[in-house]
Amino acid sequence: MPAVLRLFRFFALGLALLPLARVVAAPTGDPVKIGFFMSLTGRDASFGEAALRGARLAVADLNASGGILGRPVELVVEDNRSLPGESATAAKKLLGRDKVVALVGECASSRTLEAAPLAQAAGVPLVTPASTNPRVTAVGDCIFRVCFADPFQGAVLATYAWKNLGLHRAALLVDSSASYSVGLADVFAKTFTALGGEVVASQKYAGGDKDFRAQLTAIRATHAEAIFLPSYYVEAGLSARQARELGLTATLLGGDGFEAPQLLEIGGEALEGAVYSTHYSAESADPVSRRFVASYTARYGSAPVGLGALTYDAVGLIADAASRAGSVERVALKQALAATRDFAGVTGRTGFDQNRDAQKAAAIIAVRGGRCVFVESVRP
Ligand code: PHE
Repeated sequence: MPAVLRLFRFFALGLALLPLARVVAAPTGDPVKIGFFMSLTGRDASFGEAALRGARLAVADLNASGGILGRPVELVVEDNRSLPGESATAAKKLLGRDKVVALVGECASSRTLEAAPLAQAAGVPLVTPASTNPRVTAVGDCIFRVCFADPFQGAVLATYAWKNLGLHRAALLVDSSASYSVGLADVFAKTFTALGGEVVASQKYAGGDKDFRAQLTAIRATHAEAIFLPSYYVEAGLSARQARELGLTATLLGGDGFEAPQLLEIGGEALEGAVYSTHYSAESADPVSRRFVASYTARYGSAPVGLGALTYDAVGLIADAASRAGSVERVALKQALAATRDFAGVTGRTGFDQNRDAQKAAAIIAVRGGRCVFVESVRP
């Protein structure tokens, strides 16, 4: 064979093998177990479902790219049925029975606050994708948060209501059984008052309530221009409907608890004109986010909500820390997580500050023409 031809065959073979070189070795050995606990059924099932989708996609992507330290990743899933007490039970099982290397959960702050002391006592890192109450990460040095916290979110909302919407008199309708609701209402009220606004009513209910007419009737008497609903989507939708039935025309305001595909199904037209804040927009132009939205949509048939994206990042942050630590041993993993400064997440660059909180922007969303429309992003 002429030398030229031999040379050509040599290069052709090299070219043909090139794609193979990029195929990573399949993970082998004992699985690295990550515990996941959420409200997969019950009142807040939409949250659990969105989070589980994000977590499963993250695990699939990790396993397709070599796993964690060459080992396969396994998600061990527990459902707390949206019930108080069940997140502690779930955390005990995952820590004791399954010996998970880290926990991912919960969304609702009250439920993360049940599990966090158990993770802290076991020395196992817990990464909450979406619990915004400041007390969550204050539990201890094993507790991390991927999203912004409510001192920021409440201030963003109050400022937006006062400055951008020109609202001066606000009423609050607070779920006294949820740490999220109580804490967020408090920050909103303080900021709104400091700006010169007036909080004319603060009415209470307990999570799971379906009839808000007594509280809304009391609010109607105050002629509030805005009603702040620091609620999750079911109560938000129901109270919005009842407010309109009672003739209240006030602008409805909410926080990240609004974000679920079911919000508009439950609240319908009553939510038209409502404004809320959240963590993420699937319309983001960021290339990392765009790739995620494409693979999420291909897998599940609809675009991700913020919770799906945040949970994808929670799992990714654990894997990133493990690879930097070269270990999934709990102390090494916790230290590597704490050292995370600039992780390229689908919800943006993520790092933990000295309180193990992430500083993230908030997205303002308005309900217009029966759709949730991205209005603007507010930086911390
Ligand atoms: N931030 C809410 C809480 O702390 C939970 C939540 C996050 C709900 C994101 C919906 C979307 O309880």
